Amino acid sequence: MTLRGKLFGVGVGPGDPELMTLKAARVLATAPVTAFFSKRGKTGHARSIANDFLNPKTNEIRLHYPFTTEMDLKDPRYQTEMIRFYDVCAEQLESQLLDGKDVAVLCEGDPFFYGSFMYIFDRLRSSFVVEVIPGVTGMSACWTRAMQPITHGDDVLVVLPATLPEEALVERLIGADAAVFMKVGRNLAKIRSALIRSGLLDRAFCIEQGSMPNERISRMIDKTDDDAGYFTIVLVPGRQRQR
Ligand SMILES: C[S@@+](CC[C@H](N)C(=O)[O-])C[C@H]1O[C@@H](n2cnc3c(N)ncnc32)[C@H](O)[C@@H]1O
Repeated sequence: MTLRGKLFGVGVGPGDPELMTLKAARVLATAPVTAFFSKRGKTGHARSIANDFLNPKTNEIRLHYPFTTEMDLKDPRYQTEMIRFYDVCAEQLESQLLDGKDVAVLCEGDPFFYGSFMYIFDRLRSSFVVEVIPGVTGMSACWTRAMQPITHGDDVLVVLPATLPEEALVERLIGADAAVFMKVGRNLAKIRSALIRSGLLDRAFCIEQGSMPNERISRMIDKTDDDAGYFTIVLVPGRQRQR
C-alpha cells in the first residue's frame, strides 16, 4: 500500500525572500510537488518569492484563478465558480497525495490570514496529514517598512478588508486605536472617504508592494491619486504613547 503524502501550507512571507522562515525554506528544498495560485499568464507572487528555494526537481502545479478582479464579488457566479475552482484544485492535489507525494502549497504572507490555501485546507484536512508553516504577514512588513509601530499598551487594532461597503468600514473604525485595510486595489477612494469621516486621514499611510523592490510608502494626505495595485495596505498606527 502506498503511504499518503503530507500536505504543507507554506507561508513564504510578504515579498522580500529574506523574510521567509528557515522552516519554509527547508520544506521547499525537498518537496516533490509544489503548487501555487496565480492569475493566468502571471508567475504568481508566492512563486516569485520562493523562486530560489524550490527543489530543482519539484513538479510544479499551477492553479490558475478563473478570474481575479474581473468579476464583482457580489455576482452570484463568483461564489459558484470559485467553489468549483477550489474543488478542482483540491482534486488535483489529492491525486498527488494519494500517490504518496508530499505537496507544498505556496502562500504569500501567512497561509491562515486571508490566504487561498485555506480553501484547500478545508477540503483535504480530514483525509490527509497537514502541516501549516506560518509566514510574516503583509501588514507586518508594511508597518515595519513604514517605521510605524502599530500598537502600544492596550491599543485595539482592527483589520478591515477594503472590499466591505464604506458604511461598514466607518462603523468598524469606531473605537479602534489602530487599523489595517487589506485588499486595497480599486478601493482606495472608498478607504480615503471612510478615513476622512472617521477623522483619521492625517494619521494614515499607504504602502504599496511592501518589502518588494518596487515598494512605495506615502502618507495618505500626500497621496494625490487613488490609484493602487493589488499589493497595497493602508494603515493607521495606534496612539504612539510614550512611557
Ligand atoms: C488575499 S490577501 C493575502 C494576505 C496574506 N496571506 C498575508 O498574510 O498578508 C492579499 C492582500 O494582502 C495585502 N498584502 C499582502 N502582502 C502585501 C505586501 N507585501 N505589500 C502590500 N500589501 C500586501 C494586500 O492588501 C493584498 O490585497
